Amino acid sequence: MSNLIFPFTDEHRMIRDTARDFAREKIAPIAAEFDESGEFPHETIKKMGEMGFMGIEVPEEYGGAGMDTLSYVLAEEEIAKVDAAHGVIMSVNNSLYCTGILKFGTEEQKKKYVPPVASGKAIGAYSLTEPMSGSDAGTMKSRAVRDGDSYILNGRKSWVTSGPVAEYIVVFMMTNPELHHRGVTAFLVEAGTPGFSRGKKEPKLGIRASATSELLFEDCRVPVTNRLGEEGEGFKIAMTVLDSGRIGIAAQALGIAEAAYEASVEYAREREAFGQKIGQFQGIGFKLADMKTHIEATRLLTYNAALAKQRAKTTGERFTVEAAMAKLFASETSMFVTHAAVQIHGGMGYSKELPIERYFRDAKITEIYEGTSEIQRLVIARSELGLK
Ligand code: CAA
Repeated sequence: MSNLIFPFTDEHRMIRDTARDFAREKIAPIAAEFDESGEFPHETIKKMGEMGFMGIEVPEEYGGAGMDTLSYVLAEEEIAKVDAAHGVIMSVNNSLYCTGILKFGTEEQKKKYVPPVASGKAIGAYSLTEPMSGSDAGTMKSRAVRDGDSYILNGRKSWVTSGPVAEYIVVFMMTNPELHHRGVTAFLVEAGTPGFSRGKKEPKLGIRASATSELLFEDCRVPVTNRLGEEGEGFKIAMTVLDSGRIGIAAQALGIAEAAYEASVEYAREREAFGQKIGQFQGIGFKLADMKTHIEATRLLTYNAALAKQRAKTTGERFTVEAAMAKLFASETSMFVTHAAVQIHGGMGYSKELPIERYFRDAKITEIYEGTSEIQRLVIARSELGLK
């Protein structure tokens, strides 16, 4: 349990407990099997949608639960604590997909494209990265060319979370290469659109039950009404949405770390060596103390980022740095804690009989996707130095 003294509302406690119970009852029994097979967990994701977990901050009129950012973070943490793959599918639907449409979409776009994903009836995706454009997102090669009342999209996108199953995609393409990042435009694409197809599925180290793939656009024609925001506004939309997404990944990383830590405490209390419980050795006790302290610090940064985002809904202030610090510290904590957890468990930490090795594999991606740790440091440093 956390030592945090925090002014939670009854609503916060309710969503946290509901998510915790659901994760323990419905996800825990299948997590290892879906990790092993790499199959997408359609059934549990659908149930999560029915329970309102796929659009927690989305207003009820657009099919969501109409709750605040902290509610979303608390639920994301509990789901990821049991299975990080369910956690990232949930995070992408909530933040990467719904946030951008709600903030930059027309009323028609919000009515058409938010409810199916916020209610979990459909899966959404966010597609920015390309094989030769990752951290340096402004260098994308995909092109969208205006043709009357349509745009014709061509390009290859990669590392798209939920790419193999998404029905709706927010995709970023270059409309004016001469303007570099100011020439990027965002579009809403339905998976059935001619010219759209799914490419290579990524075989991954962790979060294996979440599906990741390339997306291919070959003369894919979308109406101008599916442009999200103005021409050239795409890079700003991509970055704004990532600020929200990074808070979700911080909560995911926090959940993974907590799971590994709690298992380690239990093991250190029970396992004996040299005539005593291993927790009584200072080498193990100090490790646990560091793990716990990092987790509680992560929690503060992550909940603070959630409050900063919530405040931004009325003030319009940016919360870029709060989100970057939370994501950076949470992901590195997740890696540190899961690494220590494997060591504390010894051989059992390396065995698939326990979920510890899965936590370790799952933690790594949180230092990479939605902006690597290096990118988070760059964002924080530039802000502190007043460079941007
Ligand atoms: N909010 C609003 N606007 C922002 C912004 C933000 N957070 N960050 C930058 N901008 C704006 C700037 O103000 C600037 O605007 P002007 O054109 O008016 O000057 C513009 O965007 C360009 O900003 P920079 O000059 O800072 O851009 P840059 O090229 O130096 O790059 C970067 C900045 C922070 C490195 C950015 O490229 C970045 O975040 N890269 C990482 C990309 C990333 O996270 N990718 C993950 C993809 S999603 C994923 O992981 C897959 C998945 O499915 C989960």
